Amino acid sequence: MTLRTALRQGTEILTQAGVFEPRLTAEVLLCHALRREKVYLYSHPEHELSTVEWIHYGRYLHERMGGKPTQYITRVQEFYGREFGVSPAVLIPRPETEHVVEEALRVAPGARRVLDIGTGSGALAVTLALELGAWAVGTDLSFEAVGVARRNAAKLGARAEFVQCDLAAAVGGRFPLIVSNPPYIPAREMGTLQHEVRDHEPHLALLGGEAGTEIYERIVPQVERLLEPGGWLVFEIGYQGEARVRAAFGERWKEVRTVRDLAGWPRVVLGRFGG
Ligand SMILES: C[S@@+](CC[C@H](N)C(=O)[O-])C[C@H]1O[C@@H](n2cnc3c(N)ncnc32)[C@H](O)[C@@H]1O
Repeated sequence: MTLRTALRQGTEILTQAGVFEPRLTAEVLLCHALRREKVYLYSHPEHELSTVEWIHYGRYLHERMGGKPTQYITRVQEFYGREFGVSPAVLIPRPETEHVVEEALRVAPGARRVLDIGTGSGALAVTLALELGAWAVGTDLSFEAVGVARRNAAKLGARAEFVQCDLAAAVGGRFPLIVSNPPYIPAREMGTLQHEVRDHEPHLALLGGEAGTEIYERIVPQVERLLEPGGWLVFEIGYQGEARVRAAFGERWKEVRTVRDLAGWPRVVLGRFGG
């Protein structure tokens, strides 16, 4: 079978299965089976798939039709212009989380030490370490996530270290910048998530307690011992979390504010400690 035919048939199968963006997905999975860039598909449409390539492609299509996210098949996701490795042990980094990077760079452009609580793939810790030329610490309750984050830091050349612990329990010292994208789905909404998310992404990365804000309410008082006076805490929030997350910032905090995403939803809440 040629690449042209494989692409056409893959697109048809994914379309029938109701997969979002079937053509693009077939391209990505075929490239992954070939271990080639997309340009190869179109520059060599008559390339005959080897038996191994065909078997791989068929397996990837089958997995995708079963609801497995493409990124857990290809094991990569782009974030802030860099390619991060992912596994089913970590949340797939989302484009909206780039707002956290942008706000952090805006308020703390000179930060030389950064803490990322609930680091997952390390997307925030590694990106900020590289963008700021800083040293980053990332924490996660998941031992597997810490392994994924360490591999991403090593691959991308970031100065970062990762610790397996509850929130920031094992972290000492003072930071001018702390970021976090904690789990924020309220328990009652877990059943309403897309099945790809609910059935494949780690619930430890999604479930934020009954209200979806419990982890924020634990983080704010914990980081008061870790922020330098005048240091910033930058959170990603869920669409319903704004009021409760802002209320979690007590009277020792200043300049607490919300930033909306491109769709107009409250997406980032940040505040400055003491100072
Ligand atoms: C929404 S994901 C965010 C991952 C990554 N920071 C990102 O933005 O793509 C939340 C992460 O917090 C971690 N986590 C959940 N509860 C935690 C806790 N009590 N202490 C530390 N990490 C926790 C999860 O394992 C998950 O990796």
